[in-house]
Amino acid sequence: MTKRKEIYKCNVCGNIVEILHKGEGELICCKKPMILMKEITKEIDKTEKHKPIIKDNIVKVGSIEHPMTPEHYIEWIEATSESGQICKKFLNPNENPEVNFEFKVKSARSYCNLHLLWKN
Ligand SMILES: [Fe+2]
Repeated sequence: MTKRKEIYKCNVCGNIVEILHKGEGELICCKKPMILMKEITKEIDKTEKHKPIIKDNIVKVGSIEHPMTPEHYIEWIEATSESGQICKKFLNPNENPEVNFEFKVKSARSYCNLHLLWKN
């Protein structure tokens, strides 16, 4: 059973999908169940920070700026408004891990290619 906005990953081929509408079935990719990605909300590492920081319309990752190299970078930042509007910006290596959205951000998620899914 899935829930809206859950994100699942295939550990075989690397496919990542987001649920738009809940369903009863199990998501399968490469003949294996896809893995539900947990939203991490607490920093673990002392030097590298992943939790998205929200200030009005701006979301940045993180309190210490996250690396943006081809090997290790924030792939996307997603923001949700008070009214439930959702916007996701995909990033490339060498871009700043910071996005100015067109609405006041209530909550945010970010995805690091190595350290996975984060939420604030
Ligand atoms: Fe990371």
